[in-house]
Amino acid sequence: MSKILNIISSPRGEASNSIKLANAIIERLKEQDPGAAVKTHNLATQPFPHLEEAHLNAFFTPVEQHTDANKAAIRHSNEAIQEIMDADVLVIGAPMYNFGISSVLKSWFDHIARAGITFKYTANGPEGLVTGKKAYVAVATGGVYSSGDAVAYDFVVPYIKTMLGFIGITDVTIVRAEGFAVADLQGAALDKAIDSIVL
Ligand SMILES: Cc1cc2nc3c(=O)[nH]c(=O)nc-3n(C[C@H](O)[C@H](O)[C@H](O)COP(=O)(O)O)c2cc1C
Repeated sequence: MSKILNIISSPRGEASNSIKLANAIIERLKEQDPGAAVKTHNLATQPFPHLEEAHLNAFFTPVEQHTDANKAAIRHSNEAIQEIMDADVLVIGAPMYNFGISSVLKSWFDHIARAGITFKYTANGPEGLVTGKKAYVAVATGGVYSSGDAVAYDFVVPYIKTMLGFIGITDVTIVRAEGFAVADLQGAALDKAIDSIVL
């Protein structure tokens, strides 16, 4: 029985294309493994703060020296990392905002990238410590970025793949729902994306 962690980063609830696509991916995973357990973390309703001095102080102070203030500042980061460590599969929903990811998803990445815990520096460069996991990323965009002139403007997929790879999650499948702002494409965009899901 696998454990799926669903990370939501759209604030649009039932109207959200990335949420609908992520749900379709989860449905397919559950067809394969009916006993799979799904834990959802909605970053729109349970956001992480932008990194402040208190977070950085806590990140870079050895655990055995943590003050109560350090412990309070680092608690959410520790919980977010534990959610990932507990999961076998991550399903991340990612709307494109201004060519990049939403700020709530960026804050989540800022809280889960922790030296010595999710990655470490070695003589050969950085090494991810979150191994043995699979990730699916449900990307929703108004334009089309899988081919054509706008490919170079997509900072969502390269960024997410880089960050997941940096912490050790290298088995990443991207599923794109695209063209929601293009009259000829918007009607079929979600169905086309759902049809393209390959587990
Ligand atoms: C604030 C904002 C910024 C957006 N920026 C872009 C963009 O740069 N490029 C693009 O193709 N679509 C952009 N869109 C369109 C969204 O990516 C599209 O509506 C997508 O479906 C949003 O995901 P969601 O439905 O899961 O919320 C933007 C939408 C919003 C609300």
